[in-house]
Amino acid sequence: MAGRRLLVTAALPYANGHIHIGHLLEYVQTDIWVRFQKLRGHRCIYICADDTHGTPIMIRARQEGRSELELIAEMQQHHTRDFADFEIAFDHYGSTNSPENYELCQRFWRALRQAGLVVEKEIQQLFDPQAGVFLADRFVKGTCPRCGAPDQYGDNCERCGQTYRPTELRDARSTLTGATPELRTTRQLFVHLEALRPFLIQWTQEADHVPREVANYLMGHFLHEPLRDWDVSRPAPYFGFEIPDSPGNYWYVWFDAPIGYIASTAAWCKLHGESLEDWWMNPEVEIHHFIGKDITYFHTLFWPAMLKTAGFQLPRRIHIHGFLTVDGRKMSKRDGTFVLARTYLKHLQPVYFRYYLASKLGPRLDDVDLNLEEFVNKVNSDLVGKVVNLASRTARFVQGQRLSDAYPDDQGLFARGVEVGNEIAAAYEEGDYSRAMRAIMGLADAANVYVETAQPWSLQKDSDRTAELRDVCTVALSLFWQIMVYLSPVTPSLAAKTESLFGKKISRWEDAAQPLTQTAVGTFQHFLQRVDRKDVDAMIEESREPIPAPTYQDSDAPLKAEPLAPTCTIEDFAKVDLRVARVVAAEDVPQAKKLLKLTVSLGGNERRTIFAGIKAAYKPEQLVGRLVIIVANLAPRQMSFGVSEGMVTAAGTGGQDVYLLSVDEGAKPGQRVH
Ligand code: 2FM
Ligand code: ZN
Repeated sequence: MAGRRLLVTAALPYANGHIHIGHLLEYVQTDIWVRFQKLRGHRCIYICADDTHGTPIMIRARQEGRSELELIAEMQQHHTRDFADFEIAFDHYGSTNSPENYELCQRFWRALRQAGLVVEKEIQQLFDPQAGVFLADRFVKGTCPRCGAPDQYGDNCERCGQTYRPTELRDARSTLTGATPELRTTRQLFVHLEALRPFLIQWTQEADHVPREVANYLMGHFLHEPLRDWDVSRPAPYFGFEIPDSPGNYWYVWFDAPIGYIASTAAWCKLHGESLEDWWMNPEVEIHHFIGKDITYFHTLFWPAMLKTAGFQLPRRIHIHGFLTVDGRKMSKRDGTFVLARTYLKHLQPVYFRYYLASKLGPRLDDVDLNLEEFVNKVNSDLVGKVVNLASRTARFVQGQRLSDAYPDDQGLFARGVEVGNEIAAAYEEGDYSRAMRAIMGLADAANVYVETAQPWSLQKDSDRTAELRDVCTVALSLFWQIMVYLSPVTPSLAAKTESLFGKKISRWEDAAQPLTQTAVGTFQHFLQRVDRKDVDAMIEESREPIPAPTYQDSDAPLKAEPLAPTCTIEDFAKVDLRVARVVAAEDVPQAKKLLKLTVSLGGNERRTIFAGIKAAYKPEQLVGRLVIIVANLAPRQMSFGVSEGMVTAAGTGGQDVYLLSVDEGAKPGQRVH
């Protein structure tokens, strides 16, 4: 379809951290799509912004002893520089902390109020009395109410997967100060989403607005039952916009963030004399959001509900991608795979990453694995070995000359490339970049076979065959040009070098259908170096964070319950003969509530019978074979079931709270404990 108008967004990155390669997956993916659409001759704008509000930013600014405004201004600079250096070309990069956004938030809010969708409710929230802030789920830690795992976040347990409210955690504490949070009641504002459920069911299930698997997921997990009211306000103190008709309350960051898409467009419109309504209220404009699967919920339920209520155009499609893993694992600071954009750029070229990602990205939600070995091999074999090599092996023979007047016979190679171009375009359009890259590399393979067969380096040695050499170079360089047109959305810097080599712009997809006859060839500049594995390793090393020494926060309760005994001498201690012993038999003593009867070996034929009060904590079968520490010279004690010839040592307060002492591997029965 010719002459489409597209407005494309990528998720707005939070202003409380630097851009890393995980983020870049999305910005590169979107950038490729936008560049492709522009190349196809469509009118397309790429809109993004920093997501600046919320508690984490407020806390970070406090910790750094500066204002939030200072922090977000500095972060914006870092972000825009990182993006530009990865050749990501936004048409506008704004901020959610802008006058345009505040104005638009009010507009959405008025619409929600008018539709009767705002409801007020009292809720209980945890408050950190030391920091003076309400605590978002991620700022509360405690013991899982279900499985008892310690140190779990306020929203779900990493061990058992249970989800809960932070108020349900046991021994909750604030991660900001360690203080015990207080439960406070506040009046908060909610959006009554349930009223929009019929609309959301229709919108999510039709016309490929979201990928089919996501449409099914939404139906199965949310839309099949009444939707919960959405809590869109946060009490002061909060870094954000205060709600005009609810002083002391602020719009939750997830309310104003997506509105930031429109606000950033509004800022672009002002700079370019365009009308916002013409972009966001015009059914002829296709709105495309690119997001990661973790924020599906916000973009497929809240956001359409808000747009619908406020009378804005709904997205044509939400493109959803998976996460980036490195060598098959989640990015990790400890492994050095949590690589910041800046660290990457110190060691490697952005085009490597762009091409590698393109070669892996499909239209589905699967995670994308950056396999470092494959990264090196693929870039070197495809980009350097197949594509750049085409030019580097031929351009020097015709440097400073014009290519042939008529396009020579190439056995249909160039025409075939034009045909395959349709397939490549369809793959780009569907977000199936890996298919597009395979098709492009197929063309490069065929072109290389042509060069190998024609052997321009041999022709060059023979002064009678200059015309033939020129023809061969005309074919090879035309095929190279065609490939570079197709590849240009992925590799803009290489496309720019191609343009300067031939003094010709790549401005339309159709440029791939025009061979380079009569074109003057400039000086061949080096296009691209091979990736060196050493540079990849250096990048990983630089990203590796040292493993911090563990910090222990043990309770003082045991010492309080049983204070330390008075000092004794070493001679006093030596009177107690502690020995390693192996439990060779263990049985229940049915008549006794607490006792097990143990037979322990001190090595050789030396055996002892010991009655131990550990029945509530251990089963007999858990004990047979294990090493314990016994007091071996304790006077035998007559008990109603027999004589106890020693004592097994243990810590704890009794009952189930009993822990037998054990020894490290290698100790032998009979050895004394000194
Ligand atoms: O998840 C995130 O990183 C959010 N900052 C994305 C916001 S996207 C949009 F809604 F603004
Ligand atoms: Zn749990």
